[in-house]
Amino acid sequence: MWPYPKVVAHRGGGKMAPENTLAALLCGLEYGFHAVEFDVMLARDGVPVVVHDPYLGRTIPGSGNIYDYDAAELVTMDAGSWFAPRFKGEPVPLYVQFVDACRQHGIWMNVEIKPAPGFEEETGRAVATLTQALFGLQIAADDPLQVPLFSSFSTVALEAARLAAPAIPRALLLDDAPADWRDQAKRLDAVAIHVNHKKLTRQFARDIRDAGLGLFCYTVNDPVRARELLSWGVDALCTDRIDIIGADFAG
Ligand code: G3P
Ligand code: MG
Repeated sequence: MWPYPKVVAHRGGGKMAPENTLAALLCGLEYGFHAVEFDVMLARDGVPVVVHDPYLGRTIPGSGNIYDYDAAELVTMDAGSWFAPRFKGEPVPLYVQFVDACRQHGIWMNVEIKPAPGFEEETGRAVATLTQALFGLQIAADDPLQVPLFSSFSTVALEAARLAAPAIPRALLLDDAPADWRDQAKRLDAVAIHVNHKKLTRQFARDIRDAGLGLFCYTVNDPVRARELLSWGVDALCTDRIDIIGADFAG
């Protein structure tokens, strides 16, 4: 049901490095993480880049939206200074660069498709099409650890990804679970549900597992809670606290 790692570094290196940067990925590696979650969005020219917010201002100095800039402009921007001076100049990564780095270091990927509002279908399709091209051989070899797992809060993006690259597995991301979560997962042919751990109850965990789906929780930063979730049968979790919830955290 869940052939993937149990503990995943959120946004590359959690709270130990600027999120969604190559520096974060390397930081996660230093902490022993070979599994990562990161967010992917489209630049103005349709090129997928690794970033969380659809606008500049928090992690990237400037104003406007990510889709106001081409990827070539975004990669020159500073996504590190907001976190700490020593990360000044750390660029916004292209998705392909992030994939390259993950492959080079044997890191499993949970690719969160993060469309800017209004770009759901386009983003799902573009990310899936590119991923299919990058991972054709691995998809054919059917080794789950060599192929990314897509997730998204957007069912439109996930459906577009399914149509563009049906063999790349998908997970439905939920905050407040809708009553028809089972039907949504079924329609998307999803392999897992990714839930906000704050909204998860023991019963809901049981229901997800009874539906034959993998169960992943975001974003768990307290080892006591992590232990409880694992005792409920949660398959995996991502964490910002890679310093206290290690890659080998056993519960
Ligand atoms: O994929 C899990 C988690 O990252 C979802 O929320 O906002 O941190 O991308 P967010
Ligand atoms: Mg995310």
